[in-house]
Amino acid sequence: MILNLSRRGFIAGSALTAAAPMIARAAPHDPANPGPVNPLVKQRADAQVFRHDDGYYYMTGSVPEYDRLVLRRAKTLAGLLTAEEAVLWRHEKSGPRSGFLWAPELHQINGQWIMYFAAGPSGGGDDVFRIRTYAVVCDGDDPMTGKWKVLGEFKAPWDSFNLDSTSFVHRGTRYFAWAQKEPGIDTNSNLYLAPMESPLKLSKKAVRLTVPTLDWEVRGYKVAEAPAVLNRNGRLFMTYSASATDARYCLGMLTAPEDADIMDPAVWVKSQVPVFKTSRETSVYGPGHNSFTVDEKGRDMLVYHGRDYEKIEGDPLFNPDRHTRVQRIYYTADGTPDFGVPVGNGPLPERFGSATNTKLLLAHDGKTLVTGNPVLAQTQFRQRAGRAGEKSVMLSPILLPDHYIVARKDGTVGLEPDSKSAEFDMRSQFVRFDEADGSTRFVAISVPGRAIGVTGNGQVKLVSSRAKAAHWFAD
Ligand code: AHR
Repeated sequence: MILNLSRRGFIAGSALTAAAPMIARAAPHDPANPGPVNPLVKQRADAQVFRHDDGYYYMTGSVPEYDRLVLRRAKTLAGLLTAEEAVLWRHEKSGPRSGFLWAPELHQINGQWIMYFAAGPSGGGDDVFRIRTYAVVCDGDDPMTGKWKVLGEFKAPWDSFNLDSTSFVHRGTRYFAWAQKEPGIDTNSNLYLAPMESPLKLSKKAVRLTVPTLDWEVRGYKVAEAPAVLNRNGRLFMTYSASATDARYCLGMLTAPEDADIMDPAVWVKSQVPVFKTSRETSVYGPGHNSFTVDEKGRDMLVYHGRDYEKIEGDPLFNPDRHTRVQRIYYTADGTPDFGVPVGNGPLPERFGSATNTKLLLAHDGKTLVTGNPVLAQTQFRQRAGRAGEKSVMLSPILLPDHYIVARKDGTVGLEPDSKSAEFDMRSQFVRFDEADGSTRFVAISVPGRAIGVTGNGQVKLVSSRAKAAHWFAD
């Protein structure tokens, strides 16, 4: 992805400040709980992760064999990696649920644990894609240990291919959103919405929210699937996945005012461009089929799958390497979610707002370090373990993962490729100091008493490690 530099945000060497969101004064970086590392869970596609009111994170998703419904539970997002995975239910020996099991979602409805999923018959041929939506229900309060049995089939508007259902409560009404092939429309799937009378029955005629027609929605297949809903800043944001499930897979988004009649398709405005897509810079391909959760600090998180490589042998549907990934969601000044780009493998990146003016974010313009508020991806830096003892750290921009911030004896701060030379190793090592006020300093090991800072005209330079200009607020 070639990022069009946001010239409004900065000009190298100086900083123009636009109406950027102020950086929240995040809690200091917690070395004891560094947070999730991507990929969070390998070979789990279509992941649903949510934080339940019992304080636990629950995670389900499609397994490569598509033969069973699984569930994990952990106290932290990172803990999902090593959490025990329970098998709740397996596909049947014959009949309509004996083949693929796709994209499960767990919901607690009127106190009952219900898992929705798409399933098809076995037996080979095209019949295996006779996919319909079903639910299983748990006999107890603990979904990890209870007994699960078939509740039944979703009563869809047509007897046709339907999948990727989700359920959400809006202004006291529970809704069902799903993807379905509608007779008479030449697409694989469109998105539908309706209020629910019961877990498998709609209370009103469904409305069609979107049909894939834009070029980025019809690459390989004409697809709008995997709806997920986020209610923030007075609006409902419904993301969905489009195109074939290879590197062309991406997220679109519909937006509706929170107080509108969401059953009126006209209130849903479709983004004309994808809101999240393949990033060659960070080596994540075909990101999609997302869900939403929050991290342990209550900050919104995007959950999605994506591969580490672009070229796939055979049918992407049977490639197992769609790994579950998570990353922060930020918001633009008008409160719209900004997903940026898939951040790539490794610890989650952070943004750093200068303590002298938190509208000034540490950023890079190509290989030049600047301050400003350009596109999100240019402000995200990943901290890696350093090479000068356990206290040392290195900082790398997510869009240039082989480059690191370096401190030079002439007082400049720059980005250089990791030459792995002893000289580079010294220049690229910093010690991170997290202060009681929530700010952070990066003191250069190779230039004692100096730290990464901002000069009066917004330039990134080495400044006295005691100066306010050496302080940043991580977010
Ligand atoms: O991963 C299996 C299916 O493939 C999912 O239900 C759908 O979102 C994707 O196209």
